[in-house]
Amino acid sequence: MAVMKRQVLVLAVAMAFAGFIGCVVSYDRPPAGHQISTPQPKDLPSTSPQQVHISAVGPDKMRISWITESFAPALVEYGTSPNNYTNSVTGTSSSYSFLLYISGQINDVVIGPLNPNSVYYYRCSSDSSREFSFKTPPAQLPITFAVVGDLGQTDWTQSTLQHIGQSNYDMLLLPGDLSYADLFQRRWDSFGRLVEPLASQRPWMVTQGNHEIEKIPLVHKTPFTAYNARWCMPFEESGSTSNLYYSFDAAGVHVIMLGSYTDFGPNSDQFKWLQADLGKIDRGKTPWIFAIVHAPWYNTNTAHQGEPEADLMKQYMEELLYKARVDIVFAGHVHAYERFTRVYDGKADNCGPIYITIGDGGNREGLANMYMDPKPEISVFREASFGHAQLEVVNASHAVWMWHRNDDKFSVASDTVWFTSLLSDPACKP
Ligand SMILES: [Fe+2]
Repeated sequence: MAVMKRQVLVLAVAMAFAGFIGCVVSYDRPPAGHQISTPQPKDLPSTSPQQVHISAVGPDKMRISWITESFAPALVEYGTSPNNYTNSVTGTSSSYSFLLYISGQINDVVIGPLNPNSVYYYRCSSDSSREFSFKTPPAQLPITFAVVGDLGQTDWTQSTLQHIGQSNYDMLLLPGDLSYADLFQRRWDSFGRLVEPLASQRPWMVTQGNHEIEKIPLVHKTPFTAYNARWCMPFEESGSTSNLYYSFDAAGVHVIMLGSYTDFGPNSDQFKWLQADLGKIDRGKTPWIFAIVHAPWYNTNTAHQGEPEADLMKQYMEELLYKARVDIVFAGHVHAYERFTRVYDGKADNCGPIYITIGDGGNREGLANMYMDPKPEISVFREASFGHAQLEVVNASHAVWMWHRNDDKFSVASDTVWFTSLLSDPACKP
């Protein structure tokens, strides 16, 4: 009886804890990968840059973000050949505290103008021991995106990152749930070091998931403290007032990053911003439109059903995306892969977006392997495996999508399909 009482108490505490950080514990998951930690190399001075990642700002600039453990100049020096820095820019620094944790110095520097499809070499904080390089995205189609959500930090995450690193992508799109720090801030540092080899080389464009909220009632009331401080995205450039939603153009694609965990109702700033943003799209310049959320609006997995961040957001915003002829809506949150046909209002519709759930990056919570039975017809392909996807937008009318399953730790192309843009369908002209 005492054992049973203890189990009930442990479950109650676990559920309360999960509520604080936004987890859902209502279904069984198979065993996940082992949690890994990526420590700072011991011989690296405290002024050395770590956790370096980059994000695209406007058509020809790049934000370089990194952390130093102690004070160092927020300076980026860069050029088009190794160790030959012809330009330098000084940016801004910040830090944040969370309970007893105080972050290092978080540096953000926007550099440019840069040429498209070009390699640049750079160093941060004048540290000559660590030179980085990145390639800018192309200005015109074709462009290749890597797409992966719910990454976390496990050996499955490592496999996923290894497979992405072996691919030839121009930009990574991440539909939320990055580090799974879940209040333990040093996990954010570990995550930054884990992804640095990739995120310092190609722009990583992210939006937030529930694991980024990190709010504790009475103790730490401000949500997204670490996420906003560490992963600054180019929101001001698209007229947004929040780092939690923004848009940008990449070659011929207009990408809209939405915030599932901030206000999205008809009177919200996000809703009004989305209306204005959709109204400004020049389909001649960007024939494709992608939208990215965290909680999927269409989902036949039994996990994460009935959540307001999915159902209410869909209720409010689906018509806007449909009328604007958004081509694809990506989501994460459900730890599996699922691709729908073109859908609107619950039914197949040739002019609706394709909905894709790709929350299978490899986090420590494991896979969501239970599905509604029988499979609804609008769901074309669904599988609970870890992996990532590559999307090559070839021209204004055609794109090829390849979902790669991490099968036995080898990347296996498992769902390959050609998409045609809504713009190229005369029946669906916006
Ligand atoms: Fe999530």
